[in-house]
Amino acid sequence: MGLTHSNSRRTGRAGAISLSVLAMAFIVGIVLAMPMQAAAQEGTAAPAVSADSPTGGAVPGQSMGTTSDSDYWRAVRGGVQGNVSIPDQNAAILVQSEGEAWRSFRNGPMSLYASWALLGTIVLLGIFYAIRGRIKIAHGRSGQTITRFKAIERFGHWMLASSFVVLALTGLNLLYGRYTLKYVIGNEAFAFVTQMGKYLHNYLAFAFMAGLVMIFVMWVRHNLPDRTDIKWAMQGGGIFSDKLHPPAKKFNAGQKVIFWLTILGGVSLSLSGWQLLFPFTTTFFADTFDKINLVFGTDFPTVLAPIQEQQLAALWHAIMSVFMICVILAHIYIGSVGMEGAFDAMGSGEVDLNWAKEHHSLWVEEHVADIHDKKTGQQPAAQPAE
Ligand code: HEM
Repeated sequence: MGLTHSNSRRTGRAGAISLSVLAMAFIVGIVLAMPMQAAAQEGTAAPAVSADSPTGGAVPGQSMGTTSDSDYWRAVRGGVQGNVSIPDQNAAILVQSEGEAWRSFRNGPMSLYASWALLGTIVLLGIFYAIRGRIKIAHGRSGQTITRFKAIERFGHWMLASSFVVLALTGLNLLYGRYTLKYVIGNEAFAFVTQMGKYLHNYLAFAFMAGLVMIFVMWVRHNLPDRTDIKWAMQGGGIFSDKLHPPAKKFNAGQKVIFWLTILGGVSLSLSGWQLLFPFTTTFFADTFDKINLVFGTDFPTVLAPIQEQQLAALWHAIMSVFMICVILAHIYIGSVGMEGAFDAMGSGEVDLNWAKEHHSLWVEEHVADIHDKKTGQQPAAQPAE
């Protein structure tokens, strides 16, 4: 026992001595290393920091010093651009605080207001449906049909529509999935779904653009504004009464608004999406600001850093897509549950004659020869619209 005791005491003393030696060596090491480290940092300090910098040219990172690191980093956060020898000149900006501002805006107010807009649209459509109900064919179905859209028109529409729906769902997942879907299906499944969604989003963008070009080419001449639109709009499109049906050609004023919003919104989404797909290759925002300044005499910045272009593209893409989703929700509503007989136009391409006379009387007058008798499959004698 005694032997063991003295042994352990000896061991304990030896341990204490070696610990003290180590500690001293450590302190000496730090004392010696500090000036060396300071000298090394001085050598690599960013060229942007001159003697009149907030720290007076002193080296940052001295926790025991008297100068303020925060002043130094505040200056760096201004986005000062230095020089790098690698090809990626974006790396020359050490800290770009706009990235943080961008992130806070995207995840904060933008996402919040966008969710209100989406929910608000759904609630408004629900209220409208509750008050107005389904818009009926006032004279009932006639049994006769008229060809409204040819196969190629329906193909273009459905290519645009189906790609838009997938783009909208996968895009909304990128914006809100982490707060919603992730808690429903779990982390692993969410990661998988989101990655697949991102691939779909990247590739279906091209189907969307193709659909957009198709409907533009096929329908633009029917969507030029004319005098009938004024009468239609003055009567509120007859939307509040089954009896009131202002005359309209192939597309009424409401549809023309949807058409132009789709084309302009679709082009804007496509361009900003392109900028996100192929980063740092375009200067769409600087170019657009330049044109806007020319036309309106405004003072938008026309020299933007590549990273600023990307940040604007990401914000604009999200804002435009939420706006377009709200518009298209209203369109889907009126083209399906909201109006009896409307879906047939894009389903089979054949609409009931009474529906056509009620909603597009001027168009029916132009196309009396296309009327078909559903029961006999014959073309009946031409009959003008009411
Ligand atoms: C997915 C559900 C959709 C349904 C059920 C639907 C239904 C319809 C119907 C029935 C028409 C013909 C209306 C008529 O005969 O007068 C139409 C037209 C049209 N659709 Fe869609 N659509 C859908 C999605 C979309 C999407 C996603 C877009 C664009 C991104 C779109 C753009 C258009 C345009 C521009 C027209 C012509 C203007 C108009 O009638 O308002 N549609 N749609």
